[in-house]
Amino acid sequence: MKRYLRSFFYALSPTNRRILRRVIFSPVDLFFRLLGKNFYNGIKLPLPGEIFTGGGDFLKNGLIYKKYFLELGQLASNEDVLDIGSGLGRMAIPLTDFLDKKSKYEGFDVVKSAVIECQQRISLKFPNFSFQYVSLENDLYTSNGGSASEYVFSYEKNSFDFAWATSVFTHMEQDEVINYLHQARRVIRPGGRFLATFFLMDQESKVSSSNSAYSFKYKIKNTWYMDKKIKGANVAFDKQLLQAWAFDAGWKDISIYPGSWSGRSGPTTDFQDIIVFQ
Ligand SMILES: C[S@@+](CC[C@H](N)C(=O)[O-])C[C@H]1O[C@@H](n2cnc3c(N)ncnc32)[C@H](O)[C@@H]1O
Repeated sequence: MKRYLRSFFYALSPTNRRILRRVIFSPVDLFFRLLGKNFYNGIKLPLPGEIFTGGGDFLKNGLIYKKYFLELGQLASNEDVLDIGSGLGRMAIPLTDFLDKKSKYEGFDVVKSAVIECQQRISLKFPNFSFQYVSLENDLYTSNGGSASEYVFSYEKNSFDFAWATSVFTHMEQDEVINYLHQARRVIRPGGRFLATFFLMDQESKVSSSNSAYSFKYKIKNTWYMDKKIKGANVAFDKQLLQAWAFDAGWKDISIYPGSWSGRSGPTTDFQDIIVFQ
């Protein structure tokens, strides 16, 4: 049953998927609207039916990542930051009461409506937070646009101290991720850090994930996919290859914090694997 629902969902266009979600969640959204308490630092949070950027508690997850940014990425309040695939501002909102007013926050995303939402909800109150729409194709999120494998980030070299891509490379293809590793390296200042999340395949996660609810059934060349038709649904990469791409892009130091997604043994940090590049 779950499989058929999934196939039906993925047969829709990205826009229609978002509309369907709003319809299904409309009773929940009504309840949230009546409660009227869905705010953080004066910013209205998106309603459950509007959140197309992943499950779980929107605010709680944003606050957890704020902690990772500080503890794993050594983010300081006077730094300039870049949010790659900023979505509905899940990571931006909790940072509005952390970053100094003089610090620059830049976010970009391929879903125009999400960028407009962030501009209206966040930038109007916090003018040092800017969001930019870029027209790129991604079969999970957009129907058309240019190729992310050739996209040149619209920021000058050495513009930021810290950048992140949370749950973004888990929806992108190999050549796109390779390009983004190069682009991030270019726009981050020497001494800066880049935190990104992945599904990494190594000996253990290959075995542990194969029988779990989170299994990547389709392998094409070096990439594992969860859905055959919508490749961006969930994407996993070989851990060693990923590290080689990062070194090739100019990153010198790579710290990996394994996630629990595959059901692996031993300590884990979050659901997805986290990497901090320096
Ligand atoms: C699972 S959501 C995560 C959003 C946000 N990073 C967060 O953690 O809440 C993935 C996001 O990546 C965006 N995205 C997909 N392909 C992209 C690309 N090539 N460049 C930038 N953003 C992209 C999607 O539009 C979507 O907002």
